[in-house]
Amino acid sequence: LDNGVARTPPMGWNSWNTFGCNINETLIRGMADAMVSSGMRDAGYQYVVVDDCWMNPNRDASGNLQGDPARFPSGMRALGDYLHSRGLKFGIYQAPLDRTCAQYFGSYPGATGAQGHEAQDARQFAAWGVDFLKYDWCSPSGSINDQVTTFAKMRDALAATGRPIVYSINPNSIHSKTGPQRNWGDVANMWRTTEDITNAWDTGQTNGYPMGVKNIVDVTVPLAGYARPGGFNDPDMMEVGRSGMTDTEQRSHFALWAVMASPLIAGNDLRSMSTATQTILKNPRLIAINQDTLGLQATQVSYDGTRRVLAKRLANGDVAVALFNVGGSTTTISTTAAAIGKSGSSFTLQDAWTGATTTSTGSISASVPAHGTAVYRVSGGTSTPPAGTTFVSAASGRCL
Ligand code: GLA
Repeated sequence: LDNGVARTPPMGWNSWNTFGCNINETLIRGMADAMVSSGMRDAGYQYVVVDDCWMNPNRDASGNLQGDPARFPSGMRALGDYLHSRGLKFGIYQAPLDRTCAQYFGSYPGATGAQGHEAQDARQFAAWGVDFLKYDWCSPSGSINDQVTTFAKMRDALAATGRPIVYSINPNSIHSKTGPQRNWGDVANMWRTTEDITNAWDTGQTNGYPMGVKNIVDVTVPLAGYARPGGFNDPDMMEVGRSGMTDTEQRSHFALWAVMASPLIAGNDLRSMSTATQTILKNPRLIAINQDTLGLQATQVSYDGTRRVLAKRLANGDVAVALFNVGGSTTTISTTAAAIGKSGSSFTLQDAWTGATTTSTGSISASVPAHGTAVYRVSGGTSTPPAGTTFVSAASGRCL
């Protein structure tokens, strides 16, 4: 969506994965403070997104949304001011139909969805200083056409406020398992590709709730053609720093989100991060690959069911290569400079995890542990297509 924001994948934190409905202003402010003191903000994380359950379950007499007075006694505007004063941005959650997902499933009272209140809610968010809206279709019913009309209504309502607001949609409840039924790049800045993520590597399904990291990758890799500045596939908030995955799996998770040009929205408790978690989430080389200005998602170079090779073209002509071991034992994964669109006789490979560099005449290869991902930034030679050139994405038919 060409609304001036999210020219690279949005980075931030969201309350849902760790806290669900157990949120309040003390928690969110504490998270904002931790974002600053941990160096996450300086690493690029900006948006602090308050997910479901922030609302008073009733609108006021004029139909305006209100924060839950018990959870957010200082009000939502004050929360936005607090975040802004710390150099962060304010994200909030709403649903397009009559109720939010937690309300839909009965775990939170009321029915305060935006239906019929789109312009009013957009104005309210702008008045509170909101910079990011997560807009979540909370019903298995509705057609793709209903979704286009309804999601576009809020797109236009946000635009009418004049405030730059990242528009993040979740159409998954009518497609959850298969990936989006269309390219949402004309409607939103980011769109969920699957059912909800959970803190597991593999839930054994690409077609049910919840999804493991590996399963989400399976659905999201084929959608590479949709990604471009202003519009990105959203494989959901990260589970890095939570229980349920090995360090290797968490590193893979982050590396894959990085090369898939996915929004990097942390979902862990930032107030109590281990050094290992910080090393992953703040890796400057992987963040640079993710935030590259071309805004391209890695495309698949090869996959034999175990060894998955993905390549992401970067603005300066470099190419980031991920060597992802889907299998259960250590294996060597190899590709070549030619296979990732580079010609020449000498290349520099920078290991994105360590920063160490090696030179190569064309081979790109690593021994990768089970569920691990090696990432190299490959420079040198010439790129096809050359750095900075435009091309038409087959999936979207639009010039990038
Ligand atoms: C849906 C979304 C989640 C979260 C919850 C909140 O399940 O996919 O990311 O926002 O709703 O209820």
